[in-house]
Amino acid sequence: MATLPMIYVLNGPNLNLLGTREPHIYGSDTLDDIAGALEDRAKALGLGIDMRQSNHEGHLVDWLQEANARGAKAVILNAGAFTHTSVAIHDAIKGIDVPVIEVHLSNPHSREPFRHHSYITPVARGIVAGFGASGYELALDAAARL
Ligand code: DQA
Repeated sequence: MATLPMIYVLNGPNLNLLGTREPHIYGSDTLDDIAGALEDRAKALGLGIDMRQSNHEGHLVDWLQEANARGAKAVILNAGAFTHTSVAIHDAIKGIDVPVIEVHLSNPHSREPFRHHSYITPVARGIVAGFGASGYELALDAAARL
């Protein structure tokens, strides 16, 4: 059987706490809930997903490089707070051919000023922000159309 086109879904710091972390901002779905919904949607779209989370910046850099080396169709990336700080993740995205879709549960532009700048946006194919957990599914739909 032919292997399915792969979508890497990478999550950065503190997203392991989804469900209990500031639910008024990030909602009550856990990362496992999101992974389950994405698995279902991926199946319907004929895609495979590989969903990961780390609190460590270098892991995200390694996984972006891995997605490229393995020929992933796209990366969906919620870099969490590294969005606003990480030149290393910016450079990693710049250095690979795989399109990266930036996702945020919240709308960072409606929040504190330090969240208004993203190192990811200039090197991302597109952004989905402000739609809570369903933003991951919207990003997957976008990835399927690339
Ligand atoms: C976030 C927004 C970031 O500003 C924040 O640091 C996060 C989560 C979001 O999904 O809304 O950790 O990426």
